[in-house]
Amino acid sequence: MFMTDPVPMFDLSRQYECLQKELESAAVDVLRSTVYVGGKEVEALEREIAERIGARGVVALSSGTDALLVALMAHCVGPGDLVAVPTYSFFATAGVVVRLGARPVFVDIDPVTCNITPETLDAAMAPYADQGKLRAVIPVHLYGLCADIEALRAAAAKYGEDVGILEDAAQAIDAQFADGTFAGTKGLAGCFSTYPTKNLGGLGDGGFLSFEDEDYGGRVRAMRNHGQTDQYRHELIGGNFRMDALQAALLRVKLRHLSTMTERRKANAARYRELFQDLDQAGSVRLPPDVAGHCYHQFVVHLPEGTRDQVKNDLREQGIGTAIYYPLPFHLQPCFQHLGGREGDLPNAEAASRTSLALPIFPELRDDEIVRVAEALVRAVRAVPAA
Ligand SMILES: Cc1ncc(COP(=O)(O)O)c(C=O)c1O
Repeated sequence: MFMTDPVPMFDLSRQYECLQKELESAAVDVLRSTVYVGGKEVEALEREIAERIGARGVVALSSGTDALLVALMAHCVGPGDLVAVPTYSFFATAGVVVRLGARPVFVDIDPVTCNITPETLDAAMAPYADQGKLRAVIPVHLYGLCADIEALRAAAAKYGEDVGILEDAAQAIDAQFADGTFAGTKGLAGCFSTYPTKNLGGLGDGGFLSFEDEDYGGRVRAMRNHGQTDQYRHELIGGNFRMDALQAALLRVKLRHLSTMTERRKANAARYRELFQDLDQAGSVRLPPDVAGHCYHQFVVHLPEGTRDQVKNDLREQGIGTAIYYPLPFHLQPCFQHLGGREGDLPNAEAASRTSLALPIFPELRDDEIVRVAEALVRAVRAVPAA
């Protein structure tokens, strides 16, 4: 039994309670329509998201993983191709590359932004220089902070012709670049996830892909449905990457509230900053970069080496939920050992995997909960001797 109520890492029930009427009415409309896959709800969602993020077009899909997969497929990535990915991300970013028979080139992250940079891309590509085989780069806007797509595009051009920059914006709906444009609009594709805990979270799996180039977008649209262009006529080979109508209708409801939810996440982040400034004079808790366009899918702090796991346990004992994104970089994953990655190869990502801790940041988090998390964290860090 905890002394006070637990503070969860996520609490989807709070959002459901707020939106219950709207969600249930949208769901009933779909049930009655008897159109359950694709259809006008999906088309409307695509239009509304494209308008919201300023993309030429959007294709609604079955998941964020499938958005990445079809993004690569529509760029004709296959065996023998190199695709550069951060070594520090959710598994899907690298998994899709290997599923297509291409070879992932694992890139270290910047220790402050946790995103890849031209310098870390250059370092990772050094062994492959002059081979001209880089087909794509998948920069991840990790935790909702945009990577520098233009700089990465310029760096990538050295390693291949027509290198596709595929933004993994799974965590970055509503995140903005420094020029005010939205994540997912600078690359060949923006790949988004609407998994329930995402900032635009559905009530099941889902995702979408944004594009600027109509030909490319048309290929993705066809590939979503087995490459079918006319009934039972297949110009391309795709898959079943379709979104259900129910999911689209529910996401349309959530989309109407996205701006408010993003503002709340930003306000929660600002509150953490204020509290840590007062509570942590020693600066033991390193905060995420204070960037206006950050949409705070996660609020990830870095703790002194050797303290993170103990701190996480202390917080859990006090009923405070936290999470580690991610405990093992790709180059050290058992399933990628055949690619030859060794400990020490990509030190910034390895350090982040030992020191990062995500704190609750969801929009409905209450102020008293934020205060409890910050106070408990600083107390716990002080109680553990650094390694
Ligand atoms: C960075 C990143 N890429 C890809 C994905 C895959 O999205 P999904 O879970 O919708 O397949 C996720 C979702 O967790 C993610 O965080």
